[in-house]
Amino acid sequence: MAVNSMQTLDRKRLAELHARELQQFIDRHPRSAAMHQRAKSSMVAGVPMPWMARWAGRFPVYVREGGGARITDVDGCEYVDLCLGDTGAMGGHSPPAVVSAVQAQVARGIAMMLPTEDSTVVAEQLAQRFRMPYWQFTLSATDANRSILRVARQITGRRKVLVYSYCYHGTVDEAFAVRDASGATRAREGNVGPAVDPAETTRAIEFNDVAALEQALADRSIACVLAEPAMTNMGIVLPQPGYHQALRELTRRHGTLLVIDETHTFSAGPGGCTQAWNLEPDIVTIGKAIGSGVPSGAFGLSAEVVHRLGLQRDADYEDTGGVGGTLAGNALSAAAMRATLEQVLTPSTFEHTIALATELRRSIERLIQSRRLAWNVVQLGCRVEYSFLPQPPANGTLAHDGADRELETFLHLYLHNRGLLITPFHNMVLIAPTTTAQDVALHDRLLTAAVDELFPACAPVTPST
Ligand SMILES: Cc1ncc(COP(=O)(O)O)c(C=O)c1O
Repeated sequence: MAVNSMQTLDRKRLAELHARELQQFIDRHPRSAAMHQRAKSSMVAGVPMPWMARWAGRFPVYVREGGGARITDVDGCEYVDLCLGDTGAMGGHSPPAVVSAVQAQVARGIAMMLPTEDSTVVAEQLAQRFRMPYWQFTLSATDANRSILRVARQITGRRKVLVYSYCYHGTVDEAFAVRDASGATRAREGNVGPAVDPAETTRAIEFNDVAALEQALADRSIACVLAEPAMTNMGIVLPQPGYHQALRELTRRHGTLLVIDETHTFSAGPGGCTQAWNLEPDIVTIGKAIGSGVPSGAFGLSAEVVHRLGLQRDADYEDTGGVGGTLAGNALSAAAMRATLEQVLTPSTFEHTIALATELRRSIERLIQSRRLAWNVVQLGCRVEYSFLPQPPANGTLAHDGADRELETFLHLYLHNRGLLITPFHNMVLIAPTTTAQDVALHDRLLTAAVDELFPACAPVTPST
């Protein structure tokens, strides 16, 4: 009989172990502590970007150097990095091909408000991978999502956007909405200074709920569904069989555009889930890894969307109509994207990274089984997530409600103190082309050791075949 670890988790023990790990962290990082202390007087919370305050220690470690799947901090501690900049460095840190391309381009001009040939090569690569014929560039995935919401509203003449509860698409106002218990759309907790109540702009439903989707689209007020093909920002929530087919069929039937955000699900393969699962979106958005972390984003449009956009004579698409940006599509980003797509995140590197992710997922499955943990693990290509629920959650709200921040923080700190980084949010592990089988084995050893300290009574049993 399976023992539910959450029922047997001793919170007092967890707190004691956490205190021990925190002390170890503080003792090992005097330089980072001093740098953070100094930064507190010039940066909000002492960090250049608020999420950096989320790392499990009392302060973030400061990086001396990153390369491939490794990071070294200013105290000389080395890490196997399975966080990879929360996907920005899915191709590894500073891959040599990108370094060369960027160095060469820096010397030849960065932001000239004129295209270079690289942007065409990148657009062709993206078109072939993500099946959208026409592309345009931004500086981030957030920018790409904001841009396409305008495009969708303009060509449909509709105001509302449909998203899934607890989705994340960047700092996009419309996407900070959840469905409450009564079925109404409300602002997600903690939403900072919304311009308008998201209920005015957005309809939020649960992922994998076809009936709710049908109901939400029926009044034809929804310009587009903005969807990750699998949710990745609250753990991984995979689509149930038939969901994508229903999503495509219903959006078509109700004249709603389907936008697939592949920023994280690019992990599924060279053309993300769009290629891997034969999806047929109207628009694809992406960012982060396509430029190896050099600020880049892109959106791809179907021929029909481009045609409809061309008919919008009153929309000033080429100047101050609310799309584009001075630095978008700049020569440096284009060079970084070209090198990334042509030489780093190639189809053959995905074979390597997905095989290692499969091994990592299996190692967690073995741990769950041998220690009889009521946890689950989910894989999406070279991305793996484990969470503290007996089954993978079917939607964002279940994933959100099942989170255990205390346990998560302890595990992150435990791994960190022993030279391994995973994302500071939930338990995401990502494999880069330079990640090795030894790195995956290290994760297995360390996670097993952490679990055995947490659940000393949970004697290993022989896994059944
Ligand atoms: C699915 C998805 N889309 C868009 C974004 C926004 O990316 P960025 O913050 O680089 O703009 C994120 C960020 O995590 C994301 O997870």
